[in-house]
Amino acid sequence: MSTSLLERSRPFHVRDAIALPDDDHQLTARAMREDVYPIHVTRTLADCLRRVVSLVNGAQVALITDERVMERHGRSLLDGLDGADIGTHVFVLPAGEASKSPASAMQLWDWLASSSVGRRDVVLAFGGGVVNDTAGWVASGYMRGLPYVNVPTTLLAQVDGALGGKVAVNHAVAKNLLGAFYQPAGVVSNVEYLRTISDRHLSAGLAEAIKKAVIASPAFWEYIDGNLDAILARDPEVLWRLVRFAAAIKTALVERDPYEEDLRRPLNFGHTIGHPLETATGYGPLLHGEAVALGMVVESRIAANRGLLDDEALARLIELLRRARLPTEADDLARWPDPRAIAAALEKVRHIRAGSLRYVLPVSLGTTIVADDVTEAEAWRALGQTGFRSP
Ligand SMILES: NC(=O)c1ccc[n+]([C@@H]2O[C@H](COP(=O)([O-])OP(=O)(O)OC[C@H]3O[C@@H](n4cnc5c(N)ncnc54)[C@H](O)[C@@H]3O)[C@@H](O)[C@H]2O)c1
Repeated sequence: MSTSLLERSRPFHVRDAIALPDDDHQLTARAMREDVYPIHVTRTLADCLRRVVSLVNGAQVALITDERVMERHGRSLLDGLDGADIGTHVFVLPAGEASKSPASAMQLWDWLASSSVGRRDVVLAFGGGVVNDTAGWVASGYMRGLPYVNVPTTLLAQVDGALGGKVAVNHAVAKNLLGAFYQPAGVVSNVEYLRTISDRHLSAGLAEAIKKAVIASPAFWEYIDGNLDAILARDPEVLWRLVRFAAAIKTALVERDPYEEDLRRPLNFGHTIGHPLETATGYGPLLHGEAVALGMVVESRIAANRGLLDDEALARLIELLRRARLPTEADDLARWPDPRAIAAALEKVRHIRAGSLRYVLPVSLGTTIVADDVTEAEAWRALGQTGFRSP
């Protein structure tokens, strides 16, 4: 992250020894970088602060957070940074999905531009997935990329959002439309922060953990199934292990295709339907994890209707989601989304995914296939079986 003194003081010579190309030589440009970053899962604030201070490594910190996180946990983090002699600049966003917007990003860039934050300083994204995604996107665009450290404070962000380097803000026509792949310099997930999240957000985070179990790990399924009561009661040891297991699964899956080149990631399970449900409800009334839970039910029904997934596995998934206090049918929502809005959002996803709606379909708990031939009729049949009206 920082240039050594030796490198800085050495005179820099440019020798003009670059061979000029023949007329028929194909010019190419190469830029390669390997991003490797540590993921620390801590049990105490003191350990969390120690990890953050070490990652910041003496730079100034541009702390981006939201008002709820600031109110509950801002003081102790700022005191810790201050105690380590780290200069901080703080920007507090309103809490909620609406802050993940181009307008917030612009405000943050204006704020950075009027500060003394420079190329070697660090953006600290302190909050849930909204803050991690927005601050990461802002870091990626400022001065062509400032390093950023994620300190996720919700279960959803700790098991998923803060990892993998997908950063973005929403646009009115689609979620995450304006974004980049930009890896953090490190992630510090302190499970103590999970004591103060709402029950609803705890469940929403569990949806992303259950998703990982369905796509990649029967052992993780057993862990969640067997410890669900302790998770809901926020047993710190059980949460610590849950976050570590989820982080290991997510990074193993992301490493295979960090830039999502083949657009067929099993991690998108629940999202082909989930994202349009979120868009159709206007980002907010339905939490991301809740939308993913409903998406997993609908997409598993598509698999079951095709004879790929047996009814018992489908029933087990629905039962686990219900025990995790997640919505599994349209009637669980305060208001049904407008079917035409769902159809329009699905169409937009088709467009973003290069013309075809790819579905990650579970074949068993732990195995999935990717299908790009699911018809609209099949999707609406499964949505209908889950209680949604057709347009
Ligand atoms: N980049 C990715 O790979 C990825 C993956 C999954 C989800 N996401 C994104 O994450 C976002 C959702 O994240 P989220 O569910 O964390 O929402 P969020 O960031 O809005 O946080 C939820 C609420 O909890 C509050 N909060 C956060 N930490 C708290 C704490 N410790 N104590 C008390 N309150 C706290 C926040 O102020 C907010 O009101 C969505 O925009 C989604 O698209 C991104």
